[in-house]
Amino acid sequence: MAASPWRHGMKLGLRKTVRFLSTVASVFCLANVVQFVAADCECGYSAVVDGHVQVFTDLIETDFAHLLDIATNTDWVRQAFNVTSEADRGSYGEMYAIDDMQTAVAPNSHIEDGQADDGQPAGLRLLVQPGLVGDMIPVSEIDSSRTDIMYGSFRAGIRLTNVTGTCSAFFWYFNDTQEIDMEFLSREYNASNRSYPVNLVLQSREAAESGFNAQGTPTFIKASLPFDPTTGLHEYRIDFLPGKVYFYADGQLLANMAGDAVPTHAGHLVLQQWSNGNPLWSGGPPKEDAVTTVSYVKAYFNSSSSQRHKDWSIRCRNPTAPGAVCAIPQATATNTTASGWFFTNQNNMTNNQTVSGHKNSGGRVVSVAAALWTMSVVVFAAIGWELGIW
Ligand SMILES: *[C@@H]1O[C@H](CO)[C@@H](O)[C@H](O)[C@H]1NC(C)=O
Ligand SMILES: *[C@@H]1O[C@H](CO)[C@@H](O)[C@H](O)[C@H]1NC(C)=O
Ligand SMILES: *[C@@H]1O[C@H](CO)[C@@H](O)[C@H](O)[C@H]1NC(C)=O
Ligand SMILES: *[C@@H]1O[C@H](CO)[C@@H](O)[C@H](O)[C@H]1NC(C)=O
Ligand SMILES: *[C@@H]1O[C@H](CO)[C@@H](O)[C@H](O)[C@H]1NC(C)=O
Ligand SMILES: *[C@@H]1O[C@H](CO)[C@@H](O)[C@H](O)[C@H]1NC(C)=O
Ligand SMILES: *[C@@H]1O[C@H](CO)[C@@H](O)[C@H](O)[C@H]1NC(C)=O
Ligand SMILES: *[C@@H]1O[C@H](CO)[C@@H](O)[C@H](O)[C@H]1NC(C)=O
Ligand SMILES: *[C@@H]1O[C@H](CO)[C@@H](O)[C@H](O)[C@H]1NC(C)=O
Repeated sequence: MAASPWRHGMKLGLRKTVRFLSTVASVFCLANVVQFVAADCECGYSAVVDGHVQVFTDLIETDFAHLLDIATNTDWVRQAFNVTSEADRGSYGEMYAIDDMQTAVAPNSHIEDGQADDGQPAGLRLLVQPGLVGDMIPVSEIDSSRTDIMYGSFRAGIRLTNVTGTCSAFFWYFNDTQEIDMEFLSREYNASNRSYPVNLVLQSREAAESGFNAQGTPTFIKASLPFDPTTGLHEYRIDFLPGKVYFYADGQLLANMAGDAVPTHAGHLVLQQWSNGNPLWSGGPPKEDAVTTVSYVKAYFNSSSSQRHKDWSIRCRNPTAPGAVCAIPQATATNTTASGWFFTNQNNMTNNQTVSGHKNSGGRVVSVAAALWTMSVVVFAAIGWELGIW
């Protein structure tokens, strides 16, 4: 008895199904391979600190010099609050107002010493004004949105004001006794003997303001900058590790501190320029507008959040694979190339970094492409199957 056409068709159908399924399976395997080599920096960003390689999993990179509107940036929160003179230990109160912070952009350049239209450096301008509002000096502060920053290497390109009577500060903060500060007092600069100190502090502002001036003690060091910080942008850097903190200018170590004063909690980053008339610290108020310009912030850090730990362990498949850990380029006094360089502007970056204005792209783009490819191969396979090609 000849096989019925129906049975024959059934056999053919089975063979096709098996081929079809194996095609789909191999395509999925391929897609996985594509995902496996997904992207650069999946396992983090590395810096050499005190001769040891440190790896951090997360980043915030902000190119203020090319950011049109600070209000659109979700990585930073402009601060608005008033401090009375009584609470302030100064002769004046302080009015933190968001209008005192604007970005002036360098539209066509990706060089971080690029100029804005007014000939001054492009970037986020932190302003302290001479005119009082009541008894308050108008001042400015911007904070990172992320408050889960627990260890890291934090860098900011800054040109300090040359107007006497303010304190410009780049710092990491949890509370008044868990704080890592670089504070620049413009009244301390002396151009005639080229003296440009920076106050490196692991302690509260209150303690500093009440006249604490134990230079050379482990948690307060007045270091000398090897350049005039008011004439151009320089990179200031804080490395915060368990039990140890390092401070740098243009990649050159200024000081390090250890001991009980080193913070043990997660915190956030702050950029500030303020004045309250306290002659022991900020001095002031300034006699004219004082502008401190922040060109960029690059922070590479670990998170205190268990969700971020999970995210990292999902995306970091093999820390020893080439490209899995990316070395952070260091701007130096003689080579500022790195200051205009951002991981988040590179192609092929790992997904799941949360940087304002950047799609959560990189690896995800690759896996979306792989998914689309898989889908189209499946569709073609199905069409081929229908047409009896397989
Ligand atoms: C940061 O996190 C990574 C990944 O968990 C870890 O290998 C590294 O030691 C951490 N660094 C610090 C300073 O805790
Ligand atoms: C601070 O004080 C000024 C002047 O009184 C007022 O206009 C402003 O709204 C206050 N800011 C906040 C955040 O309360
Ligand atoms: C202070 O800086 C401003 C802006 O760059 C500049 O115009 C001015 O000449 C500087 N003043 C001094 C005394 O250096
Ligand atoms: C800061 O936080 C630490 C740890 O929670 C705590 O021991 C300390 O008392 C806090 N300091 C202030 C000034 O609240
Ligand atoms: C330079 O002047 C400052 C005061 O403006 C002073 O504290 C410092 O000791 C002087 N440095 C030198 C090397 O004379
Ligand atoms: C600046 O330094 C010079 C030279 O050391 C000194 O004569 C002058 O008094 C200093 N200026 C201030 C404001 O301390
Ligand atoms: C993307 O990054 C991975 C891991 O570093 C690397 O193997 C791959 O060659 C990169 N692809 C492209 C197109 O650069
Ligand atoms: C300058 O720094 C960049 C980025 O770190 C690096 O790629 C380049 O090789 C450096 N150039 C010199 C001359 O050292
Ligand atoms: C990316 O990170 C966010 C925030 O931590 C998390 O909610 C999300 O699940 C992560 N997504 C992927 C694909 O890892």
